[in-house]
Amino acid sequence: MSKNSKPSSSSKTTAPQANNGSGSILSIPLIRIFILVPILSLLWTPKSPARPFALLRPTSTHATPKLINPRILLVTAHPDDEIVFAPTVLALLSAGADRKVKTPAGGGTSGSSYDGVEEAEFWSVCLSTGDYVDDGGEVTVREKRGEERKREWVRSWEVLGLKEERRWILDVPPLRDNISADWDAKEVANQVEPFILKHSINTILTFDHSGVTHHPNHRSLPRGIEHMLTSPSPTLATYLSKSGAIAPRLFMLKTVPWYHGTLDPVVAHLSHGARTLLRLVCSQSPSQNSMGPAQVTTDIPNTIFISDIKRYIRGWRALLQHKTQMSPRMIALAAVEKYVWVNEWAESVL
Ligand SMILES: *[C@@H]1O[C@H](CO)[C@@H](O)[C@H](O)[C@H]1NC(C)=O
Repeated sequence: MSKNSKPSSSSKTTAPQANNGSGSILSIPLIRIFILVPILSLLWTPKSPARPFALLRPTSTHATPKLINPRILLVTAHPDDEIVFAPTVLALLSAGADRKVKTPAGGGTSGSSYDGVEEAEFWSVCLSTGDYVDDGGEVTVREKRGEERKREWVRSWEVLGLKEERRWILDVPPLRDNISADWDAKEVANQVEPFILKHSINTILTFDHSGVTHHPNHRSLPRGIEHMLTSPSPTLATYLSKSGAIAPRLFMLKTVPWYHGTLDPVVAHLSHGARTLLRLVCSQSPSQNSMGPAQVTTDIPNTIFISDIKRYIRGWRALLQHKTQMSPRMIALAAVEKYVWVNEWAESVL
């Protein structure tokens, strides 16, 4: 988890109690923050990372880092999970990820294609229909719920702007939505692998081992994908041994405590700005991340995505497509947690 940029001073609880006794809902600090953040955000519309996920870490200390053309697959567990990835998705799509790339496919490194906008290619797969119902549910009830949630998922992606042929939703018995079941890592690997092969995916995005909400299905995703990468099937191994194939890298969305909430975008803006400034001042400052061998994950530069106000609203519009999931709790969580604003990524180093 990140050691920097997480000052514990997200002090939204320290606002003085209103002593005028009005007790109106607007005196709640949260609401004020909620108003403040969009205003501040308008002042600091941050640029997306210039070349997100494009930098391949050098394999040895002497090698120079290599740039790849990211071919990205986002793996989610349930319809509506895509919402927590909205800042990343919107940044990638707006950078041309959903357009045809001009460069030849496969790890082309021609630097010139990176001039201007980053051209990433982006796909997404959701591994279940989210047909969980509290009471265990008769089959027909579950099926109906699954169908409904699939439609919501479609509408949500339409709002986010990903074309139909770039997204899939699976419905396979071993990977059923179930809040008390871990998914089998092998099964996750089996389901994800065909997409890797078919689209020469070299960058996989998913939850981290805490899974944002600690839902066991979410947590099964990085485990399954790590399994796929560390013990590749014969088919995948053959594919990877071909010249030019790039072993997919796995990036995991950092789970942060809920109290890193709505203030975080501002903190992130500020610390981003401060870091940029620092880099300018001491132009050769070494990377703050010593990629020590003991580390399991590593922060890599340029993998923080902060939505501006337009994208933030778009994220919310996508969220609101998930009508079956709407509850005051869900809305409150989305409002106080930062994922609809900010995504931070760490690479899983296997
Ligand atoms: C969910 O998983 C638990 C634990 O594996 C299992 O006992 C239960 O039957 C599952 N529920 C459904 C609806 O599949």
